[in-house]
Amino acid sequence: SVERTLSILKPDVIAKNVVGQVIARIESAGLKVIAARMTHLTQAEAEGFYAVHRERPFFGDLVKFMISGPVVVMTLEGENAVATYRDIMGATDPKKAAAGTIRADFADSIDENAVHGSDSLENAANEIAYFFRSIELCPRTR
Ligand code: CMP
Repeated sequence: SVERTLSILKPDVIAKNVVGQVIARIESAGLKVIAARMTHLTQAEAEGFYAVHRERPFFGDLVKFMISGPVVVMTLEGENAVATYRDIMGATDPKKAAAGTIRADFADSIDENAVHGSDSLENAANEIAYFFRSIELCPRTR
């Protein structure tokens, strides 16, 4: 069924100037960008977004990296969008990511791993709402 998922192009993607290349892969997979914004997250915004990871040992480094430069936050829509996007992202650790995935091709480490994608439909709804008001979503009918 048609789903929505949240994508973040992390500061390493912006630094490498490959925003367009990553979005091209998203589009090639049949996913449509229905909202997008470039923003430099504050520490509070990054901590709030990753609140589920607050107790994990990597939380501090994760937040520090996510506020190290601008990011592009997007809402994607398409058939099985959550799983489709996770497939093309590849494994969280780029060393384990399948050849041809975004992380295999653009990420340098598990900390600087190019992209974020929601891991479930329920989290997708929460993550989309964290960054976008419903009026900012532009569902496409053609
Ligand atoms: P992301 O999908 O944005 O969600 C949390 C992020 O924490 C993850 O991608 C990684 O970039 C980062 N991270 C660092 N170490 C780990 C780890 N051991 N397990 C999961 N995520 C990690």
